[in-house]
Amino acid sequence: MSSSRSAEATTAAPTTLARHGLAARVLHALNALAVLILLASGLALADWLGARGTALLGGHTAVDALHQTLGLAFVIAWLLLVALLPSQIGRLLRDVFHFKRADWRWPAAFLRFYFRPGSHAMPAHDGRFDPAQRIVFIGLIVALPVLGTSGAYLYLTPPLGRMALAGVVWLHVASAWLLIACVCLHILAGSGILRTHRGLVTAMFGNGRVTQDMADELWPEWARDQAVSRTGPTLIRPKGAARESAD
Ligand code: HEM
Repeated sequence: MSSSRSAEATTAAPTTLARHGLAARVLHALNALAVLILLASGLALADWLGARGTALLGGHTAVDALHQTLGLAFVIAWLLLVALLPSQIGRLLRDVFHFKRADWRWPAAFLRFYFRPGSHAMPAHDGRFDPAQRIVFIGLIVALPVLGTSGAYLYLTPPLGRMALAGVVWLHVASAWLLIACVCLHILAGSGILRTHRGLVTAMFGNGRVTQDMADELWPEWARDQAVSRTGPTLIRPKGAARESAD
């Protein structure tokens, strides 16, 4: 009896929390696919992938047509999303631009914890996203509209002179590099390669859920709020309990 109970305990699935709904996951996947294709085709057009890389993608003419058509569709899709889902976009922006003074110290404290977990505790914050995630999202939020607007300008090429054209090309290239840097950092965290983020990928490319343990560590206040709404205020762990046991 007791051995079967302990076997049950060891095989029991970890508690999970709902993080993202189906619609958010589908939109995220479509957005990620479009951004990755636009970045790859843009790099090919700028000769960063070499002749063989460009040939692999179908050759310069095909890549150019793909980049322009998908780029235009991407801008239109985002304009529609902003018009149709203003409250969801507003919530995302509020969660991303939610910064307290201590949050700016979070990324360095996280790196200390990550590389020397025995000597440092996981830093706390009260956001739905951790402060490093928020900084990366701000980079995405700045880069994408600049890329989209400058791309639309290059597509339409209004007769505003060569100086304007050169400036817009510069903006398009600079915002593309900012986007590449932010997407790389985002994929590093979102893919779950980091010890602290293991399993996070299922939040967007799986069932939309994350383990309670990871949520307690990465987003302690959010995890607590979820537990309150799920179980009521009496059954939740006391504040800081997860962090103490992790130390
Ligand atoms: C293809 C590789 C990608 C992976 C593995 C990935 C993974 C993830 C994961 C796991 C989350 C959930 C994070 C959390 O709940 O805290 C997420 C959220 C998000 N990702 Fe990605 N992502 C990828 C590409 C992108 C791209 C290319 C963009 C935009 C340019 C992007 C923008 C976002 C945004 C804005 C969110 C927050 C969504 C929300 O909470 O409403 N992702 N991603």
